[in-house]
Amino acid sequence: MNMNERILAIFEQNPDVFVSGEQLSEQLKCSRTAIWKHIRELKEQGYEFEAVSRKGYRLIRKPDRLSAIKLMAALQTRKLGRTIKLLDEVDSTQIVAQKLAEEGAAEGTLVIAEQQNAGRGRMGKPWHSPKGKGIWMSIVLRPTTPMHFTPQLTLLAAVAVCRAIRKLAPLPVAIKWPNDLLIDGRKVCGILLESFAEDERLRYVIAGIGISVNLEPDDYPDYLEPIATSLRIAAGKQLDRTALIALVLEELEQLYELYQESGFPPIRAAWEALTISIGRTVRGMTSKGEVTGVAESIDDMGALLVRTSDGETVKLYTAEIQTL
Ligand code: BTN
Repeated sequence: MNMNERILAIFEQNPDVFVSGEQLSEQLKCSRTAIWKHIRELKEQGYEFEAVSRKGYRLIRKPDRLSAIKLMAALQTRKLGRTIKLLDEVDSTQIVAQKLAEEGAAEGTLVIAEQQNAGRGRMGKPWHSPKGKGIWMSIVLRPTTPMHFTPQLTLLAAVAVCRAIRKLAPLPVAIKWPNDLLIDGRKVCGILLESFAEDERLRYVIAGIGISVNLEPDDYPDYLEPIATSLRIAAGKQLDRTALIALVLEELEQLYELYQESGFPPIRAAWEALTISIGRTVRGMTSKGEVTGVAESIDDMGALLVRTSDGETVKLYTAEIQTL
């Protein structure tokens, strides 16, 4: 153990207790100045200490860093996340996962990053992915269904994440068609499924999931502040990212197996139970223009059926909708 690790070990043996600089220097046989220097280094790494004169230091927060070993230990899946590539900084986990899939990575291979510098959202939008604050991950899937069924998987992924969040914390998270997760009207998670095919044959799908877990209001750029939130803001406390990743992968695996056995009907029912879009008046922006009407249901392919004021039913496949 180096000196920083030895200092941390002492704080961990004394949770919630003040440890004086004198105690540390005696126990570790080094000068008070050296202790002060190491505490400063630990602060730079994200550890937070409360310092009170004549009492010493108390460790109040550890940096939340993901560890592949801890994640592996928390996972109870058979396939998903059995191979993990954990990276500190990437452009986008979608790009890394795609490369691995091209090289033959097994179904369930998980790519996860602490930070994305060019996170991708749906419809060419950027995805804000600051360091250590969220879950920015992509999973390689190799479904045996034809290419045109992928929208069903998009809805499946939304159900999995919604269920996982509700298991972790009692938050009013719901799905906005097709796969945005909202809390009180603000987006907390986005899902991007990218399919790769050859002559109509689906080769693999990269399921990208971005969950804003521990972002604080200051972590958002101005344009996102009014429309985005995080689980931490909604719950009023920091949440355990490792536990949530494990829950998401477990829910995803269960639903994916169910989908392979029984097809879309049970997934559709689960999605309908968690959505806020059905029965609401929505405005959809499609490539062919704007459609306004009541969202009545989804069809067998996951398209949203919108009934307009002139009684016509319009199918939306990839639109961005606004709930009015
Ligand atoms: C959306 O626009 O709602 C979809 C956002 C998807 C973001 C995730 S974060 C992990 C993965 N890597 C990316 O670059 N995008 C997805």
